[in-house]
Amino acid sequence: MTPIWTHSNAPMPPTWKRGGSCARPVARSRQAWDRIAVGYDRTNTPTQMWLGGEGVRRAGLREGMSFLDVAAGSGALSIPAARLGGRVFATDQSAVMLELLEARARSEGLSIETGVMDGHALEFADASFDIVGSQFGVMLFPDMPKGIDEMARVARPGGRVLVHAYGDPRQIDFIGFFVEAVRAVRTRLSNPVHVGIGSKPR
Ligand SMILES: C[S@@+](CC[C@H](N)C(=O)[O-])C[C@H]1O[C@@H](n2cnc3c(N)ncnc32)[C@H](O)[C@@H]1O
Repeated sequence: MTPIWTHSNAPMPPTWKRGGSCARPVARSRQAWDRIAVGYDRTNTPTQMWLGGEGVRRAGLREGMSFLDVAAGSGALSIPAARLGGRVFATDQSAVMLELLEARARSEGLSIETGVMDGHALEFADASFDIVGSQFGVMLFPDMPKGIDEMARVARPGGRVLVHAYGDPRQIDFIGFFVEAVRAVRTRLSNPVHVGIGSKPR
């Protein structure tokens, strides 16, 4: 599959690559996210935008910094990053999600570049971005360590990696009930991860 790129006026770091093949597409997951994208954009993205804004603010994003959003969905992290003046590149496996993100960006007059790709194999050179973030994205990858490794790889030395992820759902009352019911029949249900911002060693 060829990545979809859109163009903006913002200059890109020379290390950002264009084109190339989309390695290891997670086809079933992608189709599922394509199907629910419109509903997700309507209900989830607006309600999670505040969290994205808080994350990029705490990660120290400032005007002119390059920011990569991994598994961007329809923009709950990318849009706040662009509002702060970041030069944002949004990636996701779902082309439909990215089309919705582009529509949101256009409606606010924001400039965000997008590319369809699998977060397990980011199509960027090492050390390409000041900050690399993923909100409720990398936590869902079948190989989450690989996804986090890729985020760290494309962050510049001294840059930052921002991950928003759910904690243990059993500790959230209304979800805990549901999780325990699922665990009763699906004993190998994997453990979720935690929230954090990390600096990449120089
Ligand atoms: C829960 S949504 C989060 C979207 C957005 N970051 C947000 O905060 O609303 C999960 C997103 O991860 C994407 N995703 C899941 N697995 C992926 C993968 N292997 N590579 C790229 N994107 C992936 C899905 O397509 C979906 O858009």
